[in-house]
Amino acid sequence: MDESLQPAWPAGWTRRHLLDLESLSREEIEILLDTALQMKKLTQGCRAKVPLLSGVTTANLFFENSTRTRLSFSLAARRLGADTVDFTASTSSVSKGESLLDTAKTILAMQVDSLIVRHRAPGAPYILADNLDCCVINAGDGPHEHPTQGLLDMLTIREHRPRFEDLTVALVGDIAHSRTARSNIWGLKKLGAHVIVCGPATLVSRQWEKFGVEVAHRLDDILPRCDVLNLLRIQFERQYTRPFPSVHEYALLYAMNRQRMERAKSDILIMAPGPINRGVEITPDVADGPQSVILDQVTNGLAVRMAVLWLTCRVAQQAAV
Ligand code: NCD
Repeated sequence: MDESLQPAWPAGWTRRHLLDLESLSREEIEILLDTALQMKKLTQGCRAKVPLLSGVTTANLFFENSTRTRLSFSLAARRLGADTVDFTASTSSVSKGESLLDTAKTILAMQVDSLIVRHRAPGAPYILADNLDCCVINAGDGPHEHPTQGLLDMLTIREHRPRFEDLTVALVGDIAHSRTARSNIWGLKKLGAHVIVCGPATLVSRQWEKFGVEVAHRLDDILPRCDVLNLLRIQFERQYTRPFPSVHEYALLYAMNRQRMERAKSDILIMAPGPINRGVEITPDVADGPQSVILDQVTNGLAVRMAVLWLTCRVAQQAAV
């Protein structure tokens, strides 16, 4: 392959799994973001194919629902010339009682190199990484972490605001049950941003202060200070009790709407990991408005996942030589 089509190999990258952002150093996060940017350029905005991973096979092992994450990992693998297969728990032998590890071993026996795992149990990808001889990428483990979502959020912010040290980023909504929140907190803090977690007290504990983030319960109080708002979905599927009286009341206090936009900085970035619930965490005019970068986040998801697949697979290939 033409060497000019290869991103430069970053000396500081040695991992063959991506399980979380908590254990990564600032340098490793910067390597991932820089490589993602190179991937975006090499593929002309995530459009063209570059055969950096031909001969490699990735498998999506999804035990929870997904639209964008699964498609994004599949397309990222294909853009790099890899083969990819899809596993969906509801139509698989899991319903016949097969364990996670046995399912994963069966897929690996088909000569798969990289497993991309989404599971409702926090820690599930770590079990696979500890027991299997392949790359493991965490695509969301319950409420714990969603590292590629954190990275694509940071890449999107960095394209507009390169200096994280100057930024105040608010994560608004269901912090208690959000893996996107956790990965953003670890990543943004390492890059030097000021992070605020904001939502009802039943979903945003004061305990978060221990991680160096500011805790707020009133969006209107913090709004004028924010450079970025990341509006998180209420994770009803992970809740056992009702955290607020009604969705209507939640929207009154926390939905980003036109009136609140008037009180925000004029260049504020409006983000959401998706799926968005229009009228709950964000109104349609704001979701589709000029400050929204929600669809840029989706495109950047491809760039980040190409970078993650390439970096981890290359380490595994070098170890096998
Ligand atoms: C997030 C997830 O699954 O954790 N979505 C995503 O990956 N794009 C957030 C959510 O479901 O609300």
